[in-house]
Amino acid sequence: MLTAENKKVIQQVWEKVKEDFGAEALERLFCTYPQTKTYFPHFDLKHGSDQVRNHGKKVVNALSTAVKNLDNLSQALAELSNLHAYNLRVDPEHRGCSGGAEPRFAFQLLAQCFQVVMAVHLGKDYTPEAHAAIDKFLTAVAAVLAEKYR
Ligand code: HEM
Repeated sequence: MLTAENKKVIQQVWEKVKEDFGAEALERLFCTYPQTKTYFPHFDLKHGSDQVRNHGKKVVNALSTAVKNLDNLSQALAELSNLHAYNLRVDPEHRGCSGGAEPRFAFQLLAQCFQVVMAVHLGKDYTPEAHAAIDKFLTAVAAVLAEKYR
């Protein structure tokens, strides 16, 4: 559960997040966990690709909506959760996106990559308090996106 203090810290640190962080997090995801690329066969995944850049912006915008709805994440992300349940529904024999684990863990991988990108760019501004709060926030977002798998 996010505390009132967590929410304040998330809103403050989120002001420093740029749209480009999304593409950088996606590139990191595809390099670090190459299995995740199997969900984007229709994308040009080369460094600097327009598709990845645009997709990264969509991810950041979705997260910004979530930041504005911290008390109501399930509702705010309901549509996105449905979309991912459809997009990421994987054959149990071929759990590519999550590296062999349950599909829902894939969301956590992107959340982790996003946090690394925040730490790289925000440096000292990514305080331990911000780190802890953003980790809780992205874990909550990942849980909502994975809801339809339960
Ligand atoms: C599409 C957000 C994790 C695969 C999208 C869209 C957003 C989004 C905003 C665009 C929806 C639209 O066009 O209406 C997020 C967020 C995530 C997340 C916030 C986690 C924090 C993942 C992961 C994967 C994935 C881990 C797979 C490894 C996809 C795919 C699409 C999509 C395949 C459709 C892309 C297209 O064809 O345009 N996601 N996503 N997502 N997402 Fe995610």
